[in-house]
Amino acid sequence: MKISVIGCGYLGAVHAACMADLGHEVVGVDVDAAKVALLSAGTPPFFEPGLPELLRSAIASGRLSFTTDISAVREATVHFIAVGTPQLGESNAADLRYVDAAVEGLLPHLRDGDLVVGKSTVPVGTAARLAELVRSAGSGATLAWNPEFLREGFAVKDTLAPDRLVYGLAPGDSVGERLLDSVYASALALGTPKVVADFATAELVKVAANAFLATKISFINAMAEVAEATGADVTQLADAIGYDARIGRKFLNAGLGFGGGCLPKDIRGFMARAEELGVDQALSFLREVDSINLRRRGRMVDLVTEVVGGDVAGKRIAVLGLAFKPDSDDVRDSPAIDVAVRLAALGADVVATDPEALETSRRRFPDLNYVASVDDAVRGADAVALLTEWKTYRALDPTLVGSAVATRAIVDGRNCLDPVQWRAAGWLYRALGRP
Ligand code: UGA
Repeated sequence: MKISVIGCGYLGAVHAACMADLGHEVVGVDVDAAKVALLSAGTPPFFEPGLPELLRSAIASGRLSFTTDISAVREATVHFIAVGTPQLGESNAADLRYVDAAVEGLLPHLRDGDLVVGKSTVPVGTAARLAELVRSAGSGATLAWNPEFLREGFAVKDTLAPDRLVYGLAPGDSVGERLLDSVYASALALGTPKVVADFATAELVKVAANAFLATKISFINAMAEVAEATGADVTQLADAIGYDARIGRKFLNAGLGFGGGCLPKDIRGFMARAEELGVDQALSFLREVDSINLRRRGRMVDLVTEVVGGDVAGKRIAVLGLAFKPDSDDVRDSPAIDVAVRLAALGADVVATDPEALETSRRRFPDLNYVASVDDAVRGADAVALLTEWKTYRALDPTLVGSAVATRAIVDGRNCLDPVQWRAAGWLYRALGRP
């Protein structure tokens, strides 16, 4: 199948490389010439395990190319829209200008039988509007909505072997369904469940899934607040309730909460859309999900303040982790970087490190003090704040780190260390939702 992918950011670059890996001929189109140059050289402009190798082999095979020239899509039959839908500056709603521009940019190049496939996360109702735009342009092309569920850090695996495929199709669009079946033939052959639905359902599946995940995290973080007031241990509580298969242990890790480019803006966009539809009451609980999540960041700052004796001003705080989660260099709405910035604003001498997110952090917050290694971060520290649970941080040796710091005090913002081991090595260990 000949495929074009409009938008080569996180989603688009991964999708383009994976589709080429599956044997399709793919052209990725982006307005950012610097991004296109990097991708054409086989270098992703962001950190994602496995992607550089995949990109290079797909380019070498001749099946993958990148360009800024939208007319290159003429070669393709299936056109994926993979541009961003960030939160609008002035409200909770999603900014659709990039999606609209991508579809409008495609229109002059579409031919009869082409399929435009939306992958971006959009407010329900967008696909129907865009399908009408494509139809009224008169090329004979049609539109489908096929939401994406990939996780940063696992993006390649999630794209090549998704846990489900959702096709949002216009009534009776069997041509669209057949084209998508050809695109995803290898996943379907592995038995991947396929849900064929109308546009609204397909759009809602995506935001409902992210809203559910966000709710699950905030639920356990709410339990962490109660645990803190009672001396209970939220990690044991999560283990115990997680054994119930109806609840499940995944996404029950209490700590600093969720961030990134998806969960926070998606729940806000969902609430904004519900309000427009007159069903805001149905989603008012998401406001609480958002507040619980944001409260954890304040609590983390309070705990660091507590362990250094009540005032962080002038105290040297080692910050371990800046990315919104491990195996990513993404710092969009990162709880870790938020805490680091707040501590610095309170006068702390913050020394921050991260295995991959130093550059992305520096671009957003140039005034923080960044160092390349844990050794440099912890040297002479009055307290250590562990904010992203990178594997290397989970494996830190408390005795070794203890010999470098000024005071053995650590706040584990991700409940990823063994309190017994750290306390045995003479540390004051504090965590969110744990005695
Ligand atoms: C999320 C969804 O998991 C994907 O399914 C979805 O496709 C994607 O958004 C998207 O809409 O594009 P992602 O943003 O990569 O993926 O990150 P998650 O793995 O969901 O983690 C989100 C945040 O929740 C992170 O900050 C993580 O640290 C936090 N988290 C996760 C917790 O605090 N506790 C947990 O138990 C799990």
